[in-house]
Amino acid sequence: MYSRKYFNKEFDRNKIEEKNNDPFNLSYHISPITGWLNDPNGLCQVDGTYHIYYQADPLNAIRKNIIWGHVTTKDFINYNYHEPFIFADTNLDKDGAYSGSAFLKDNKINFFYTGNVKYPGNYDYINDGRDHNTIKIVSEDGFSYDKKELILSNDDYPRNLTRHVRDPKIYEEDGIYYLFLGARDRNDKGKVIVYESKDLEKFSYHMEITTNYDFGYMWECPDFFEINGNKFLMISPQGLESEEFKYQNIYQSGYFPIDIDLKAKVYRIGEFVELDYGFDFYAPQTFEDEKGRRILIGWMGMPDANYTNPTVKNNWQHALTLPRELKVSDNKLLQKPIKEIENLRNKKIQIVKNENYFYQTFEFISEDIDGEFEIYSRSDAKLSYKDQILSLNLGQCGYGRDKRKIRIEKIDNISIYSDTSSVEIFINDGQYVMTSRVYSEKSLFKSSIIGTLYEMDNIKWEKKLFE
Ligand code: FRU
Repeated sequence: MYSRKYFNKEFDRNKIEEKNNDPFNLSYHISPITGWLNDPNGLCQVDGTYHIYYQADPLNAIRKNIIWGHVTTKDFINYNYHEPFIFADTNLDKDGAYSGSAFLKDNKINFFYTGNVKYPGNYDYINDGRDHNTIKIVSEDGFSYDKKELILSNDDYPRNLTRHVRDPKIYEEDGIYYLFLGARDRNDKGKVIVYESKDLEKFSYHMEITTNYDFGYMWECPDFFEINGNKFLMISPQGLESEEFKYQNIYQSGYFPIDIDLKAKVYRIGEFVELDYGFDFYAPQTFEDEKGRRILIGWMGMPDANYTNPTVKNNWQHALTLPRELKVSDNKLLQKPIKEIENLRNKKIQIVKNENYFYQTFEFISEDIDGEFEIYSRSDAKLSYKDQILSLNLGQCGYGRDKRKIRIEKIDNISIYSDTSSVEIFINDGQYVMTSRVYSEKSLFKSSIIGTLYEMDNIKWEKKLFE
């Protein structure tokens, strides 16, 4: 159990200072107030305010038990930390308030998440020994709620599934609400199962969606959305074999373009596309904001990876990616940091080829690229393009992260967002992205191609914490 009472008793405000004084504390990304962060959850905008929740353990830099952390912003410049939103404080979720999402209806926010329950004993915790409950919470304001309501439990899920069924996301079409859950079946096949509802109260089993070939043993964090008539099923699959240019991390995140008639339960699933080729990107979630933009935020981290984060010694770990707007071109998703991020631009510098510059929090843009290049965003963080291969090579600053590469026929443009301990690289209008943590106290920027660099301002955090 991880209740509000326990949190209030154990939370040490002095640790906030410790984290803020860490030279690797991020300046324009969301990171946990203290302790651990993983998936973004419950993303939504209500009355102008964006609510960004996330899997959190504010008491430990290496997670012990998970609750929902909470930040808000109206403009992606000024932010507030709030008290955690969902605690693991009932028999339905006592071992973790796991990932979930928000769905707005009739001026209310309907949250659906997974309550994790583990039984003590000698279990494999895959086929036995745990419950994954789908729980609903209704809130008017995103800060409070009355009750946790059990919507579905393992007894309801299809018999051929293991106990791993989680991370609900709602999609509405023609007045029907479809609830998507990620699952692992008893043959170790990853899939998504879909429930339907007319009222967001009673859900009945509708269908499953999977590939007719092997594609990992578990699909986490499903998302389903439409942009300009194109539909996409986004998942974070586990168990894909690494190839030279594909699936280079332990786990992946990406999407299938999908032709689907949900009502008729027929679909044709397209080819999986990875959303990111860096070291630290997982469990992304999207939402539509009041402007009608489809915005994606990912966890800038990777579970079970063999590389590390030196921030742990200052009692925090991981962060969220920049919010990225999704657009579609040729049935492929393009990612681009939302327009508001431009408001963080400060001094503008025209970069001369092969000169040393000493900036660490910056945006660098180069357009009309023709041919090979080398760009350093730290002295040992080199991005190079040669023979149609783009590689990111990290030395010591990678803390175990070494090399990632993508085969790209031609690169036309690139933009790099570097923060105190991260880089996000967008290629060809965001058709390819590489997201990674990097840790070097010394700054260096050097590029073999010209471009424009903007020094970036910090986002601002309200001083009054948890009020
Ligand atoms: C993805 C994930 C989810 C789960 C959550 C637990 O990173 O494993 O499937 O709900 O994290 O924190």
